[in-house]
Amino acid sequence: MKKLFIVANWKMNGDKRFNEQLMRYINEQVFKNSNLEVIICPPFTYLTQILELKISCIKIGAQNISEKKDGAFTGEISGSMLQDLKLDYVIIGHSERRQMYNDDDNVIARKFELAHQNKLTPILCVGESLNERNHGQTLSVVESQIKSVIEATQIELFAKSIIAYEPVWAIGTGETATSIQAEEVHSSIRAIIETYDSNIATSIPILYGGSVNAANCKDLFTMVNINGGLIGGASLNGEEFVEIYQTAEKIINE
Ligand code: PGA
Repeated sequence: MKKLFIVANWKMNGDKRFNEQLMRYINEQVFKNSNLEVIICPPFTYLTQILELKISCIKIGAQNISEKKDGAFTGEISGSMLQDLKLDYVIIGHSERRQMYNDDDNVIARKFELAHQNKLTPILCVGESLNERNHGQTLSVVESQIKSVIEATQIELFAKSIIAYEPVWAIGTGETATSIQAEEVHSSIRAIIETYDSNIATSIPILYGGSVNAANCKDLFTMVNINGGLIGGASLNGEEFVEIYQTAEKIINE
């Protein structure tokens, strides 16, 4: 049976009151299920609040991790601090960080390694821009983003990692890759990993992200190589997020 992951990326949204309402709603609708993992990634300042509010089957992730271990790095949050909170996941290489905060391939590889050193499962985001897609470069871009991490670290780390394919042109735009476009990239990602390790290629969860909502998630999540979604905007709406969760639940129970 397929395992699905529903990951909420709240980005820089929310406040204590909003978070509390949203989490109370989600808590009531989500049930323990070993084939369906719900992961909430709030801003750093609300991690503790959400850890205290959430029911036990919901997992929590951070949206970023410093590429430094510790020391004089004003404003940064280290992997050991995230581990101190007993988080399970961390998003790495989101296109907003690649584009606006200079997270290049070297930085991303260091973050990926530090996540593992601190027992956090990285959710490594990859994806092409619109311009790259229009020039037929989608697969080569994704390949180089993944290979740069594998080659700077080691393939074995991918046995306990998640990849999220997020075409940049689909993030927050309301425009989604079709399930066929997404499936094509997801199966290519498995083929890239297969050249290093075939077991990891088969088992690694590959999520799709980019304007996932209640209306389009079924088509995406039923594709063979898509193991769930990384959800931004729609994760801030309790009803919509729960609908996505329930769609995933139906798919794995079918
Ligand atoms: P979106 O964001 O669902 O709002 O497109 C997804 C993401 O950036 O992870």
